[in-house]
Amino acid sequence: MARILLTGGAGYIGSHTYVALCEAGHAVTILDDFSNSDPGVIARLARITGAEVDLVRGSVLDRAALDRLFAERAIDGVVHFAARKAVGESVARPLDYFETNIGGLTTLMQAMRAAGVWRIVFSSTATVYGEPEVFPLTEDMPLSHTSPYAFTKLTCERILEQAAASDPWVPGVLRYFNPVGAHPSGLIGEDPRGIPDNLMPYIAKVALGELERLTVHGNDYDTPDGTCWRDYIHVMDLARAHVLSLNRLLEGEAHVLNIGTGRPVSVLEMHRAYSDVVGRELPHVIGPRRPGDVPRLYADPTRARAALGFEAEFGLEEMCRTSWDWVRAQSEGWRFNS
Ligand code: WQD
Repeated sequence: MARILLTGGAGYIGSHTYVALCEAGHAVTILDDFSNSDPGVIARLARITGAEVDLVRGSVLDRAALDRLFAERAIDGVVHFAARKAVGESVARPLDYFETNIGGLTTLMQAMRAAGVWRIVFSSTATVYGEPEVFPLTEDMPLSHTSPYAFTKLTCERILEQAAASDPWVPGVLRYFNPVGAHPSGLIGEDPRGIPDNLMPYIAKVALGELERLTVHGNDYDTPDGTCWRDYIHVMDLARAHVLSLNRLLEGEAHVLNIGTGRPVSVLEMHRAYSDVVGRELPHVIGPRRPGDVPRLYADPTRARAALGFEAEFGLEEMCRTSWDWVRAQSEGWRFNS
């Protein structure tokens, strides 16, 4: 058992990773300022795990708060989720993204270094591959950024790499593809504010009747049905990958890994799968391409399998079903969840 600090642990991937770490027997502290998450998730995490949550309300930009946290708790490793993650927003507010994502990491690392804590799992993204031409994507492929958001994630990866040259850092960089789905309890899930940018939460709101119909952003791409391919991975699989990554770091093994299924799914396939789960054809129209979209983005999961023994287990139906169960439970205020 180790004591783990989860920054951004009240967020979508953070909350699911919290559950997975607790179930693996670790003691976990959540640091979150709730700038982009619902404080109500904390009580629901306690219901899932059957234990009170060790919560520190604060920001990774607050060095004094971090120093107090490390002084009060013997932290063995950190899983760092706290960051801004909306590609479109990053174009409009790049300085906010540089400050939170890059400044947040360096402030956290300064506090970790002062406390002699060197193991960190870093939440990265497949968008560091830019607009790739060759598929599936392996970790040694060229890196670039197509948005300020991707620039911050790429820069953070470089910072971790450079820092390890002068201090005994043991980083685990996980490049996520497209996280979807929810915990089977229906008590935690993706909870975007406003109208969702991402495909599955948008479809979920169409299924709830909160949005009129799905607009498919382009069907003239070079794919079998003309709509973009993505590597959707269930958030419970992704959470398990974090536990496996942390365990490797605790053994001293640093890594940079793609976390995906290796099985691409098109927009229309996702729409069909969600309609099947809901039991009716969800309304959709074909619209123009969305600027910045790439036709295909999917992982070669070989290295994660070799380094962590990780293999995604949830399929498309469970991704859609757990999402549908979550959004219905959320809309009913969890009155009926045991
Ligand atoms: C998937 C596909 C859309 C909505 C983004 C970020 C990435 C990561 C994951 C942080 C695309 C299509 C979508 C809709 C649609 N986030 N779509 N209608 O763009 O692959 O990745 O989220 O790390 O950084 O870029 O995910 O879900 O937005 O889109 O047709 O209403 O669904 O065009 O082809 P994306 P997405």
